[in-house]
Amino acid sequence: MPPETKALCDRSDAILFGSVGLPQYDGLPLAQRPEYALFLLRRDYELYANLRPVRVFPGLEDASSLRPEIVRGLDLLVVRELTGGIYYGLPKERRTVDGVEEAVDTMIYRAPEIERIARVAFDLARARRKHVTSVDKQNILETSRLWRRVVTEMSAHYPDVRLEHLLVDNAAMQLVARPGDFDVIVTENMFGDILSDEAAILTGSLGTLPSASLGSQGSAGRQFGLYEPIGGTAPDLAGKDVANPTAAILSAAMLLRHSLADDSSAVRIERAVDRAYADGLRTADVAHSAGAPVSTRAFTQAVLARL
Ligand code: IPM
Ligand code: MG
Repeated sequence: MPPETKALCDRSDAILFGSVGLPQYDGLPLAQRPEYALFLLRRDYELYANLRPVRVFPGLEDASSLRPEIVRGLDLLVVRELTGGIYYGLPKERRTVDGVEEAVDTMIYRAPEIERIARVAFDLARARRKHVTSVDKQNILETSRLWRRVVTEMSAHYPDVRLEHLLVDNAAMQLVARPGDFDVIVTENMFGDILSDEAAILTGSLGTLPSASLGSQGSAGRQFGLYEPIGGTAPDLAGKDVANPTAAILSAAMLLRHSLADDSSAVRIERAVDRAYADGLRTADVAHSAGAPVSTRAFTQAVLARL
């Protein structure tokens, strides 16, 4: 990440981020891969709360690989802890011990990191269906035992919110078996990474899902944040005008809502996207057997026309 980019971010109220990663860099150490920029932005701005809303657009139920009646009306929110856990724990290295090559990543959570993400999840659940599912692997991981205890303690402050705990393997299964039962899912960094991709496929395409990465509230109620589609790049689609712009458009809507305190503009954008889908416009990733898919530009124009 060039220093000019960092300086520009420092002067900004929010970051609207594209997608990073290309197979040609896969063999390089983390610090030389494009993902590292994202890794640094999340860490340096302490954007610990990653919100990934998963909604099935009315009319788009048939795009899912699950039966339409299972995903109809689906509206859940993954709250992923984003600056801790195995992504950031040290040591994190490749080394040779007694002539044998080995690698180590460290999963570590401190109680305050769990408390603050739990608080975000409970607060958001209050404005929704008042149900939090906390996902961990407490039968095996020490970090998960601490996670479960701290989340349970936090729940005492939210008697109006129902708390449920699931082990991550079971959660992965329940998410496709009974997705409609979930409201807010709160989990640690890597489980959240994996489960949010799984949740995305409920909607039919990773290309529809936005995200917000938030830190603590700044002065004057300002909320700095980074907004990005949850998916990575799709090098096979680059330059072909076929990618689904929904995730990027909805990320901008989240930016207006959370960082610029402009909820009404966010809602207008979200409604315009809803209408474009309701009117049958589809990019190739969510295409109907019936209608021909539209291009990235045509879908975007359709959203603009409905604003
Ligand atoms: C995500 C992505 C990133 C992550 C990658 C690109 C480093 O998969 O935002 O879910 O693993 O956090
Ligand atoms: Mg991911």
